[in-house]
This record gives sequence, C-alpha cells and structure tokens, in this order.
Amino acid sequence: MVPPLYRGRLVTGPKKPIRNFEEFRDALTAYRLPGVIIAGLELELFTKLGDKTWTIPELAKVLHVSERGVAILCRNLAMAGLLIKKGGTYRNSRLAATALNANHPAYRGSYLDLVKNHWADWARLTESVRTGLPLDHDVPEEPDYRRRFTWAMHHRTLDVAPKIASQLSLHGVKTLLDLGSGPGTFAMAFLAKNPSLRATLCDRPDALEVAREIAATHKAGHRLSYLSLDLMKDEIPGTFDVVWYSNVLHIYSPEENQGLFKRVRSVLNPGGRVIIQDAFLHDREGLFPEEASLFSVSMLLFTDTGNTYSVAETSEWLKQAGFTAIRRLPIKKGSEDWEGGILEGRVPVEDARRNDRRTGSTKSSRTR
Ligand SMILES: C[S@@+](CC[C@H](N)C(=O)[O-])C[C@H]1O[C@@H](n2cnc3c(N)ncnc32)[C@H](O)[C@@H]1O
Repeated sequence: MVPPLYRGRLVTGPKKPIRNFEEFRDALTAYRLPGVIIAGLELELFTKLGDKTWTIPELAKVLHVSERGVAILCRNLAMAGLLIKKGGTYRNSRLAATALNANHPAYRGSYLDLVKNHWADWARLTESVRTGLPLDHDVPEEPDYRRRFTWAMHHRTLDVAPKIASQLSLHGVKTLLDLGSGPGTFAMAFLAKNPSLRATLCDRPDALEVAREIAATHKAGHRLSYLSLDLMKDEIPGTFDVVWYSNVLHIYSPEENQGLFKRVRSVLNPGGRVIIQDAFLHDREGLFPEEASLFSVSMLLFTDTGNTYSVAETSEWLKQAGFTAIRRLPIKKGSEDWEGGILEGRVPVEDARRNDRRTGSTKSSRTR
C-alpha cells in the first residue's frame, strides 16, 4: 500500500468535458488561437511593435506582409489580450512588449522557439501513434539542439524556480544533487535561498555548458559544481543530503525510473531525501490534471520510452527502492511548476546500505 500523502485540493476532473457536438467542435478547433499566436511569433510581430503604437499600413510595410493579413492577425491578437487596439492602431500588451519582444531583456525566445517548433511536430502525432516511436527517432541529436533546449528550459522556469525554492524547506541540507539539471535554474534558486547549501548539477556536457554560462551571472554560482555524465548509465560519484529530480521522470519508462531510484538511494546520506518534481496524474484512472495527461503526448512525440505517471505508482517505485515517509509536498496554487507536482521520499536514518549502485541502459532521444 502507498503511504499516506498530503491531501491538498487538486483538479480531479476535466477543465471542459466534451458532452455534445458543440463542445466537441470547440475542443477540435482550439488550434485557432495558438495558430494566430504562432503566426505573430513567426513574423516577429511583437519585436517589431516594440514600445511604439502602429497603424496597419505601417505594420504591413515593416513586416513585408499584406495589409489585409496583418489587420486580421492584429485584431485577433488584440482579442486575445496580447495587443492593445485603439481605433485603427495597435500596440503591445505588457507581456508582449517584454517576454515576446526580442529586444527586451525579459525575452523568453528559446522557450518560444521550442514551442513554435512543436506546433509542426504535433501535426505529425498520428505518425508517432502508429509507430510508438518519437518523430525523427533515427536523427542523432546535435550539440546545438541540446544548447537551445537547455536555454528553453531556463526560459520556461525562471519565474517558478524561486517560488518553489521559497516554499521547499532545505533546512540543515548541505549538499544537493540536481539530477538532470538542464540549465540548473532550480539549483540556482535553492542556492539563493539557502546560503550554506552547495549544489552539484548533473547533465550532458552541452547542457552543463549552458548551465555554466547562467551560473556565471549569479552571485551564488561559485557554490555549484558540475557532473557531466549519463544519469541512466554511469555511476554517480559522491553522496548527498538531497537529490532533486525535476522534469526527468517523464522522459523514461517505469523500469528505467525504478532502476534509477535504487541508484539515487545509494548516493543519499542516511536521512537524505529524493525530491521529484513532475507532471503527476492524481486521479484513480490516471486522466487528470489535463496538463499532465497532455504532457504524455509530448513524451510520445519526443522520447523513446517516456510517459506521465501517477503519484501512487511513483510512490510505489520509491517504496520498492527503500524510501520511506513518501509524501506530496504542498506548494501554493499558482506558484507550482505542475499541479501537485512535488513528491518526496526519505532514506531511513539508520540506513547503512551503500552497496546498491546499479547501472541501467538508456537510449538517446531528442527533446529530453
Ligand atoms: C526536461 S529537462 C529538465 C531540466 C530541469 N531539471 C528542469 O526541471 O527544468 C531534462 C534534463 O534531463 C537531462 N537528461 C535526460 N536524460 C539524461 C541522461 N541520460 N543523462 C544526463 N542527463 C539527462 C536532459 O539533458 C535535460 O537537461
């Protein structure tokens, strides 16, 4: 039996269940607004608008597009709240003028590029359903892809990481391993919040290169060290008080994660904790939250063996790996990466077993 978990209020049903043809039509045609936003991004419309107010003829000229096209595009972006319309003129909303504007320091370009590319990938979903394989599974990963993906991860979580760090107690923790750290955005937030903490980022070499660039701009960056290895295959050197495993669980199969949990336990000090952050499913049938369910489709498109998992099954794997006191950590609604998305397991204090270092196998894939 799975140990008792924190019982917060979670979404356990669909945001909008499809019950009749009208609702089906709405769900089916929900691609329209994303299509409008992606056209805006592809045309670099938000960057061109900058902080000025534009008429349609001016915009058509500067973007080299038709007046009819840009008029309809801008009207719809204004309807969505990304542009402000006044008479015949348009300007950026605050969000568009910052996060969507390549000339602004708060620009999230790497994440926007990733999502823009996924637009075309999702249109090929039937291929992946047929084969059970990720798209372009036979194309080897390029170092530049890994760098761009790592920047995208940073742009995705740079707001949420400090919010999580402020709610997650690392009192008394001296060493933290960020396993599959990517850019190290979460580890940096933990360091900023906990002045006596030291953290180790573990990832592939090209991801760690980006992490080093980011760390160089942070005051706490000197409390970081780096482990370049294959976390599924290689031995993990050292011992730690906490292993932070964020957004990696979904890349791998249940068997791969179970093998990893045993190896993670062997690098934790007695009383140490593994803290897992992921898109967990929470209801009995494994359907909700919607976001976590839909994320499994991304895993079908982009990974060899990935999926999304329930809190109950992940807790069971932790238990089998020898973790105790397994519980979901409460994070305030609106400040989470995923709803109900943090699960913790502890190594018993009396635990002395240190001989369980196992190796597993991994396959390379894009979009991990
Ligand atoms: C989705 S990103 C998550 C990054 C970060 N932990 C976060 O929560 O934003 C997954 C990371 O795990 C890394 N990763 C996945 N499999 C790995 C492996 N076998 N060895 C090393 N790193 C791996 C990827 O390179 C990537 O940086």
